[in-house]
Amino acid sequence: MLKGKFITFEGSEGCGKSTQSRMLLEHLKAAGRQVKLIREPGGVAISEKIRAILLDKANTAMNRECETLLYMAARAQLVEEVVIPELEQGTVLLCDRFLDSTIAYQGYGCGVPVDAIRSVGLFATKGIAPDLTIFLDLDVEEGLRRRGAERDRIELRSMEYHNKVRNGYLDMAKKEPMRIMAIDGSLPRDVIFARICARIETML
Ligand SMILES: Nc1ncnc2c1ncn2[C@@H]1O[C@H](COP(=O)(O)OP(=O)(O)OP(=O)(O)O)[C@@H](O)[C@H]1O
Ligand SMILES: [Mg+2]
Repeated sequence: MLKGKFITFEGSEGCGKSTQSRMLLEHLKAAGRQVKLIREPGGVAISEKIRAILLDKANTAMNRECETLLYMAARAQLVEEVVIPELEQGTVLLCDRFLDSTIAYQGYGCGVPVDAIRSVGLFATKGIAPDLTIFLDLDVEEGLRRRGAERDRIELRSMEYHNKVRNGYLDMAKKEPMRIMAIDGSLPRDVIFARICARIETML
């Protein structure tokens, strides 16, 4: 039985996922909760090695199927080594990106069939799905501006691509309003954080 809660943070580049997930980690720690923050792709040794391949600008030949499966491979290892054990122990597990990222970036963004991503996703995650997903919605150019000049292999893609990703997230949020909480990422960080906390209070 999984006693913990699994909360993921999603959205396009620079929307505030890392900022808000770290704020929530500190807030829950201060409240005496058993809490842990992980990020995707990565989080455990094997998955961090896969992350390096995925973000390497030299890998221009990587096709979308290979990219999709590498994200899934990294996720499968993280689920086995961290997600399941932590949820079994009752941890509030915060994850910076999860399966929705693959659906948004490789599905809506690159045109990989979403059904295929969902079935491979089920295999990779053993059916573990977030109890709550915080989706921070932000204008693509604003997000990339916040991130500054340094860009990885994915971030270097066109504005058109990044807009498809953002619209993918908006579409998913519309289809799953119970699980996915959409928040305007252009709001001040404390305003966003207050909304997240209010929602978390109702579930913990
Ligand atoms: N609400 C906000 N308003 C203005 N700037 C913000 C806000 N939240 C975060 N930032 C700033 O924007 C930048 C990107 O934020 P952050 O790293 O949290 O985004 P991210 O979604 O994790 O990005 P990435 O997709 O690259 O991991 C940081 O410099 C951060 O300080
Ligand atoms: Mg981040």
